[in-house]
Amino acid sequence: MRFRTRAIHVGNERDPQTGAVVRPIHLAATYIQPGAGEWGEFDYARSGNPTRAAVEATLASLESGAGALAFSSGMAAIHCATMLLEPGDHVLAGTDIYGGTYRLLHRILDSAGIGVTLAPSTDLEAFEAAARPETKLIWVESPGNPLMSITDLAACAELAHRRGAMLGVDSTFATPVLTRPLELGADIVMHSATKYLGGHSDVLGGALVVNDRELYDRLYFIQNATGAVMGPLEAFLCSRGIKTLELRVREQCRTAARLAELLAADPRVARVLYPGLPGHPGHEIATRQMDGAFGAMLSFEVAGDFLAAKTVVESTRLFQLAVSLGAVESLIEQPAAMSHASYAPADRAAHGISDGLIRLSVGLEAFEDLRDDLGQALAKATESS
Ligand SMILES: Cc1ncc(COP(=O)(O)O)c(C=O)c1O
Repeated sequence: MRFRTRAIHVGNERDPQTGAVVRPIHLAATYIQPGAGEWGEFDYARSGNPTRAAVEATLASLESGAGALAFSSGMAAIHCATMLLEPGDHVLAGTDIYGGTYRLLHRILDSAGIGVTLAPSTDLEAFEAAARPETKLIWVESPGNPLMSITDLAACAELAHRRGAMLGVDSTFATPVLTRPLELGADIVMHSATKYLGGHSDVLGGALVVNDRELYDRLYFIQNATGAVMGPLEAFLCSRGIKTLELRVREQCRTAARLAELLAADPRVARVLYPGLPGHPGHEIATRQMDGAFGAMLSFEVAGDFLAAKTVVESTRLFQLAVSLGAVESLIEQPAAMSHASYAPADRAAHGISDGLIRLSVGLEAFEDLRDDLGQALAKATESS
């Protein structure tokens, strides 16, 4: 079955009891067992739930994995992956990562005795130079957040394995429609299901997908022991969202590409960061690594400073001023003040996240309406400067 068909059918087989074409939402917290010490397929909702199992089956199929685990949030999923590490181990992460991941690495992991280094994963020589003998996990995002940098995932997997480390990829921006990191050699792929998988800004969730059963068992143990599982209502909403994932993502990418071109030609815009633009430093890798499109996230810098960017993000009417991304409605935000406010200011500057940077999540509205909305917001910023 093709990707789009699997998104609809895998995990969503007809309900055996009623024949319903949509699987019911199972809310039961506990399950009657065949006997004392004899376990049925499900026993307690933290350990397993049919609605969650359904979305996990779909995700494993879409990411070409052997197993998937659904979590209460993307951060819970990342935290679970990092719990594979022990004190004394080291994590090497890309510089272009979600602010919450940066906070988890710097404020939670390092106080647990795990070393953390951030280095540019787009420059593999510099990246490898930052690795240590005790590096056990390499963590990257591609496209990265918020600079849309592209990391060569196959090369990173080779680097990680040569050094005896695992490669984890936060593939939230790419979605399995555009990139399937496990096929490129990654060990763990992670999603904030809050974004494209759910797709409608109405669910908080996360996922890990792996292609090794032993690694799956270790992660399952941690998830069950710590308890940050995805609830049944969220699992249902994710399953529903995933059925239209490919259609949504491809259409959103088309609009994003047109907006990126438009912004790149606009004299009020200092630079546009979108891997689909031929001038983007990661364009060539993205062409190879991403399946026919370059994502629906893009960032740009307005000439000027923090205040000019603040005026733009506060002046759009259709692009709503909010963090998060990946849903049908378009969003706009200023990373320095919002999604990446948890970065130390010096790190933000060192990693190229300027005060004038604006990040767009392009939704499913008509291109013309989004174009006009950005145009009037840029005009306001120019007037007030
Ligand atoms: C790329 C990326 N990874 C991880 C997360 C964290 O996911 P969640 O908010 O579902 O915990 C986010 C949230 O914005 C994100 O954008």
